[in-house]
Order: sequence, then C-alpha cells, then structure tokens
Amino acid sequence: MDLATLTADLEALRDRALSAIADVSDAASLDALSVDYLGKKGELTAVLRGIGGLPPDDRPRVGAIANEVRVALEIALEERGSNLRASELDRRLTAETVDVTLPGRPIRRGTLHPSIEAMNEICEIFAQFGFVVHESPEVEDDLTNFQMLNIPLDHPARDLWDTLYVDLPGHLLRTHTSPGQIHVMRSTPPPIRALLPGRCFRYEAVDASHGFEFFQVEGLMIDRGTTMADLKGLLDQFAHAMFGAGRKTRFRPGYYPFTEPSVAFDVECLVCGGVGCPACGRSGWMTILGAGMVHSVVLRYGGLDPEEYQGFAFGMGPERIKMLKHGITDLRLFLENDLRFLEQFR
Ligand code: DAH
Repeated sequence: MDLATLTADLEALRDRALSAIADVSDAASLDALSVDYLGKKGELTAVLRGIGGLPPDDRPRVGAIANEVRVALEIALEERGSNLRASELDRRLTAETVDVTLPGRPIRRGTLHPSIEAMNEICEIFAQFGFVVHESPEVEDDLTNFQMLNIPLDHPARDLWDTLYVDLPGHLLRTHTSPGQIHVMRSTPPPIRALLPGRCFRYEAVDASHGFEFFQVEGLMIDRGTTMADLKGLLDQFAHAMFGAGRKTRFRPGYYPFTEPSVAFDVECLVCGGVGCPACGRSGWMTILGAGMVHSVVLRYGGLDPEEYQGFAFGMGPERIKMLKHGITDLRLFLENDLRFLEQFR
C-alpha cells in the first residue's frame, strides 16, 4: 500500500459517502450510513488500518487526510440529519393540522323529566291566580295522611289508597299529596292559596295506568266565603290554559272523604274532540282531576273554624295530564328512564 493509493481510496470513500448521505431520505437509513462509514467495522476504519503498512514518514499525512474525511462525513451526517428532522416536522405539521375553527363536540344536554315538566306547567298556570308552592313530607304519619283527612282508621274509604307502610310505627309513604293541606292550614293563616306538588307512593299492581310511585299536584284555597263557583271558575281557567281555550269541560259528582261536595272534573276528549273514541272509553270526556269543598272535619283538624272559613281543594296527576296531552298510553314509560321516550319532551 502506498501513499497515493491510500489517499485516492480515502477521497473516493469520501465522495461515495457524501453522495449516499445526500441521497438518504429518512433518519434510520442515515444512522445506518453513519455506522457503515464511521463505525468500528466501518469503511473509514478499514482504510485507516492500511496506514500501518506505510513508511513512517507518510503516516501523518494520511492520518491528516483521514481526519479531514471523518470530519467532513460527520458534518454532512449532522446537516442531513437536521434537514431530515425539519422536513419530518413539516410533514407532520401539514398532515396533522388542527382546525381550531371547527365546532367543538356537542355536550349532551339533559332535559327536565316529563313529570317534572308537567308539574311546572301546572304550577305556572295556578301561579297566575296567586297560588304559591309549598313543600310537604313524603313520609307521613297515618294521622295526617288519613285520619285528619276524614278517613278514620277502620273506614272502608281506606281501600281507595293501597298503602306502603314504613318501618316506623304509625308511618307510611304518603299515598297522595292531600296531607299537605293539613300542614299548610296549620302553618299559614288564611287566606290560603297553596299548591303542593310532589311524589306519592302506593302499593299498586303496576300496569299501564297504575304506578307504585307517581306525582300529584294538590291545590288548596281557603278564605271567608269561598264557594264552589270559585272552584269551578278556577278549574275552567286551568283546563283552558292547559288544553286549549276552546275545550269544553264538565263537573260530575264524585266521592272523596276530605271534600263535601266532591267532584270529578272532565275535559272534552283530546283525541276525538267529544265524539267518543277508544281513548275516552267512547264517552267523549277525559277526567283530569278530583276536587271539592274542603270538609269541615278537615278544616277543624287544620285549626280553622268552618263557620268562619271555607275553601276548596283539588288534586291531579301530572303524568296523567301529560299522557292525555301527548297521547301517551302507558304510565310505566315515565319510570323506565328510556332516553328515547324522555327526550321527546325537550
Ligand atoms: N287525594 C286524591 C287522590 O289521591 C285526589 C284529590 C281529590 C285531592 C279531591 C283533592 C280533592 O284535594 O279535593 O285520589
């Protein structure tokens, strides 16, 4: 091996390496090239081994050239590497652009439950007549849920309310919102215009029109000289606000222990308009609530003198009102938590 040959080899190696580095198009191949030329078993190292065969005087010259070649390759590798990294970044930036002007993912909005919505609607209508919402407990005692409402312990009228008793002697889950009347009368001096919306519970065989858990809205008005005419006028206004101004209404005699006289209040069938159809049992009418003049026994239990104060009460089921309004045929839908049902009432 002589100086001229080694020098020529080194220069050839440099030119080959530089053009290979220039041609490389990804970081992994560049790393491989670096190992091929500069690694322990690389080509440059191999050439340098030939230095040993040169006369001692020539060795420094070849060493210097080899060093230049190594530095030149290192610089080329480094430059190519940073170019590749930059273009890789460019490529990703273009490929992965984020359009910050795109709308965000919609947040799923909840809705009011149709029972709650119906209760709100009812309360809003009566609020226009000065009725104020009161609260009353869901766990009641027998006295307030029954006896003070003129339903004595052994009275057959109890059969109207299949009751869920709780593990506390004399207590039960209220079967209706009517016991709220007693609480309001005892806590609020007349004149009273109260609404009592809330959950009720019954030991029912559940079917399309009976639930063990449902809502009611109770109304109570007490004042001097309140009459049945006031009750009829108010309920007519309510029915027209809820079901449409043109709807016919009617009062029928009814029976509730806590009112005397008692009535059932009907509105012209919402499906057939009064002609008679399966939805209204071919009667042309739909019953929407029970009502009546507050019984004197109830007034006395409420701490009021029936000679001085009179009043009326009414009670309705918001689910029933919603069912009539929207043609819903199964009460169970209200408790099944099926969003396909619930979301129809946005
Ligand atoms: N509490 C009755 C029920 O659950 C509904 C009712 C009827 C309430 C007549 C009243 C009323 O205040 O006067 O069936």
